[in-house]
Amino acid sequence: MADVVLTEVHGKVGLITINRPEALNALNNDVMDGIAKAIEGFEADDAIACMVLTGNEKAFAAGADIAYMKDFSYVQNYKSNFITRNWESIRSARKPVIAAVSGFALGGGCEVAMMCDIIYASDTAKFGQPEIKLGILPGAGGTQRLPRAVGKAKAMDLCLTARMMDAQEAERAGLVSRVFPADQLMAETLKAAATMAEFSLPVLMMVKESVNQSFESSLSQGVNFERRLFHSVFALEDQKEGMAAFVEKRKPAFKNQ
Ligand code: HXC
Repeated sequence: MADVVLTEVHGKVGLITINRPEALNALNNDVMDGIAKAIEGFEADDAIACMVLTGNEKAFAAGADIAYMKDFSYVQNYKSNFITRNWESIRSARKPVIAAVSGFALGGGCEVAMMCDIIYASDTAKFGQPEIKLGILPGAGGTQRLPRAVGKAKAMDLCLTARMMDAQEAERAGLVSRVFPADQLMAETLKAAATMAEFSLPVLMMVKESVNQSFESSLSQGVNFERRLFHSVFALEDQKEGMAAFVEKRKPAFKNQ
């Protein structure tokens, strides 16, 4: 059986590809364990600065695997810590993770994309939370992250009607950062990831942490959090190097220190 999650390294970027094309990349435990393991590996690797999570042209992921999940019981879900156990690895990654989405990103697929820090989409992408059609609700953060991304009006519309939203609408609504022609999605995503990878890694991680803090706190707490980090970066060699390079009109050579 083919690996359901593939990894590759492109310079300082770790690429993670969901590989269950026969089921439109439906997410079962093997897939989620594979993603968690890949993220864990790239997080621990000092040569990697950020990650890209992708699927194939037809589907990023058409949701959690319905056939696999249909007979689950409450007690089994609770005892196995379903979702929290392995899906949350995406959320807890400290290096940036970019979702590169082509085709369907539905249900758990949309939720996985939203756990990432940036969503780049191809013009074929379709997003939605169609769980209600199955007699369930989104369970991997969809009812929480979608309204934060697109506002209550559109989130309610998507979750309650189960309709799909195309890439252009998703970009207008603020879910998607940029839309590219399908055949350019991966090149453009890797280009953006490579740009990030050239910066100071600890600062890259701090920027991610600080932006995420804006969703977890009041404005004054968030600004205070940012201020503390800002003060602290002056302890980094990379701050001295970055500013010296600007003044000396040369490219900085960051050492991630
Ligand atoms: C299991 C799936 C699947 C899924 C597609 N497949 N989505 N299998 N779980 N979520 C399988 C189909 O059964 C089929 O297998 C093959 O992939 C191709 O799918 P088709 O339906 O034939 O393709 P198409 O006609 O193009 O329709 C595409 C589609 C449709 C509109 C995306 O597949 C669809 O509605 N899928 C389900 C979407 C969904 O409800 N997602 C939310 C799931 S619940 P065979 O063997 O027949 O070829 C969820 C909860 C998350 O995500 C909460 C956290 C866990």
